[in-house]
Amino acid sequence: MNILGIETSCDETSASIISDGQLISNIIYTQQIHKKYGGVVPELASQEHLNEIIDVVDAALNKAFLKLSQLDAIAVTYGPGLMGSLLVGLNFAKAMSLSLKIPFLGVNHLEGHLFSNYIENKSISFPNICLLVSGGHTQIWLINNYNNFSLIGETIDDAAGEAFDKGARILGLEYPGGPEIDKLSKNGDIKFVDFPRPKVKKSNYSFSFSGLKTALLYYSQKVTEEEFKNNISDIAASYQEAILDCLFNALKDIISDYPDVNDIYISGGVAANSRLREKATKFELDYKKNIILPKLEYCTDNAAMIAMAAYQKIINGQKSSYDLAPQSNLKL
Ligand code: KG4
Ligand code: ZN
Repeated sequence: MNILGIETSCDETSASIISDGQLISNIIYTQQIHKKYGGVVPELASQEHLNEIIDVVDAALNKAFLKLSQLDAIAVTYGPGLMGSLLVGLNFAKAMSLSLKIPFLGVNHLEGHLFSNYIENKSISFPNICLLVSGGHTQIWLINNYNNFSLIGETIDDAAGEAFDKGARILGLEYPGGPEIDKLSKNGDIKFVDFPRPKVKKSNYSFSFSGLKTALLYYSQKVTEEEFKNNISDIAASYQEAILDCLFNALKDIISDYPDVNDIYISGGVAANSRLREKATKFELDYKKNIILPKLEYCTDNAAMIAMAAYQKIINGQKSSYDLAPQSNLKL
C-alpha cells in the first residue's frame, strides 16, 4: 500500500511517500519569499505552492523509486490553514485521484502534528499526553488510542510559535522568529530580564502568551536603543526561557493530575527549539517521565505526518468525496 501525502497549509510545500506504514520519502520546500515581509503573505504563499507542487511531488516519488501508477491512495491536508494554500494542495490531490482512479483522504493538519511522533516511533504507549506547540496552536491532548483523543488545555490568546514570531519582530529578527531566537539565545543569559510566566486562573493547562510579548515590547521601550542592541542575545534568551517555562509548568501540573501517564509527546514547530529539547531532558530526569520529541524535520510542517495520520484510516477503507472543501478554521 503506497500512500502519497501532500501538505500545503501554510508556507511549506511538502510531499511524502509511506509504503505499508513505513516512511520512504519526505520532501519539504520552505518558501523563502516571506522573510522580507516579517510574516507569511497568503497570496504569495498560494502562488509559491502552485509553482512548486509538481516538482515536490515528483521528488517524493523519485526518492521512493515509485511511478505514479504504483500509488494506491493520496492523503492531503484540508485544514486548518491559509485558504488559498489549502486549495492548491487539495485540488492537486483531487486531480491526481481522479486521473489515477485512486481514493484520496482529507486530513486535519493538527492530527498530522499529533501523529508526527509516531513516524519513527513504533512502540507507542497509551494513554499518553501530547503537547502540540506550533505557529497557530498551543494545545494539550490526552490520547487514549489512535482514534480517541481529547483536548485538555490550550492557549487563550497567542500560540507559543506566535509568541516567538512576534517577539522576534520586536527584537528586529527575520520571520520565522522561532529559529532566529533559538540561535541568538545560545550565547545569552536566561536570567538577564525577569519576564513574567503568566498563569491562567481557569485551568492549569491553559496558556496565555500575549502579556509576555507586551512585556518584551515595554522592556524594549524602557531601555535605550544601544542597551537593547548590546544585550540582544541576553534579552532573547530571557524571553525564550519565559515561553518555555510556561510550557513545562503545565507539564508539571499534568504529571501530578495524570499519574498513570508515563509518556509525554511534544510536537509542532516549537518542538524544534534546542533549549526546549535541553529542558525536556532535564524534565525527564527530575520527574521520571519519558518525553518524546520528533526528529527536527517532522516538527515543522511536513507531508510525512499527514500520510502517517491517514494510514490507519486508509487501510480501513476511509476516503473523502470530491466535494470536500478546504476549511481554514478546522478544529480537531
Ligand atoms: O508547526 P509549524 O511548522 O506550523 C504551524 O502549523 O503553525 O510551526 C511553525 C512555528 C513558527 O511559529 C516558528 O517560529 C516556530 O514554529 N519554530 C520554532 C523553531 N522552529 C520553528 N520556535 C522555536 N524554536 C525553533 N527552533
Ligand atoms: Zn503545522
